[in-house]
Amino acid sequence: MSAPNNSYDPVEVTALHPDEVARMRDEALAAIAAAASLDELKEVRLAHAGDRSPLALANREIGALPPAAKADAGKRVGGARREVGEAVKARQAALEEERDARVLVEEAVDVTLPWDRAPRGARHPLTTIAERMTDIFVGMGFEVAEGPEVEAEWFNFDALNFLPDHPARTMQDTFFVEAPSGGESGLVLRTHTSPVQVRALLDRDLPVYVVAPGRTFRTDELDATHSPVFHQLEGLVVDEGITLAHLRGAITAFVQGMFGSGLRTRFRPSYFPFTEPSAEVDMECFVCRGASVGRPEAPCRTCSSEGWIEIGGCGVVNPRVLTAAGVDTDRYSGWAFGLGVERTLMFARGVKDMRDMVEGDVRFASAFEREI
Ligand code: PHE
Repeated sequence: MSAPNNSYDPVEVTALHPDEVARMRDEALAAIAAAASLDELKEVRLAHAGDRSPLALANREIGALPPAAKADAGKRVGGARREVGEAVKARQAALEEERDARVLVEEAVDVTLPWDRAPRGARHPLTTIAERMTDIFVGMGFEVAEGPEVEAEWFNFDALNFLPDHPARTMQDTFFVEAPSGGESGLVLRTHTSPVQVRALLDRDLPVYVVAPGRTFRTDELDATHSPVFHQLEGLVVDEGITLAHLRGAITAFVQGMFGSGLRTRFRPSYFPFTEPSAEVDMECFVCRGASVGRPEAPCRTCSSEGWIEIGGCGVVNPRVLTAAGVDTDRYSGWAFGLGVERTLMFARGVKDMRDMVEGDVRFASAFEREI
């Protein structure tokens, strides 16, 4: 029988060597001090104070020591574990305090803010004004017609008497979508609402009295007075016995309905392939009514002291267009106009910069919301 082993050789139980216990403790304390968040501290606690931490494992070794050495080793390991436990607790308290202070700042609720957290949107003023313009013509008996924004080149150009090599095709600064192929017309983003003239004539029985509000596209740079996306209001009348006087009357009624009674209009000779004769339409300046012309001491900012404001183009429908749409030109004639919606909004509501209309800031639209 062998005698019990009473000799204690500290070298054999390395984990319980005083230097080693101190090292494990210092390592634990350093890790605790370095823990920057509660999550990090949790990991540090598991690693240095958990059941499988070096100090816990060392603690288990104590039982294997000879009785004489147990008390001494127990005191040292127990002391180290207490110190580590207290350091964890202190760090935990400090980090919790930090977190609570941060939450108070970051998650603060300002109870004085309005309770309505989903602000209502607003209709865009371009929509409102286009409807208003349309309504004036609907009031005169016009119907509303529509056409696609991605339009066949044939409707946008050919049917409107732009020949294939017509310089106006490039003058229009077209966005081309699809090249023509296999005898099929190419596709473009419509450069004006005039293709709706042809669609209306093909779709409807005569006589035709239509207006077509819609979005149009040209490759212009966005600046205060240009936008690659803009809107027009097209008008078309085809009936028997139609004259230019009816056109002038309809446009004047529109101007007076939109900008004020008594305002005059004038036509200046112009050119469009789809109308003959053609004209640019001006209306009398609704602010100065011409009083600023030749009077530098009383300038008008609305019309730049010109007395007149250009609002669109118009003319007698070219018989070629009527023929392309299958209309009997011996019996029927007509006229058409195209008005700029952005220009109308600029003048009617004093919008100075076109970019405000396209940027989509709801505060711009909200400013017009109360309009009736
Ligand atoms: N479509 C022309 C333009 O965009 C305007 C217009 C329409 C002119 C109808 C005459 C008749 O400039």
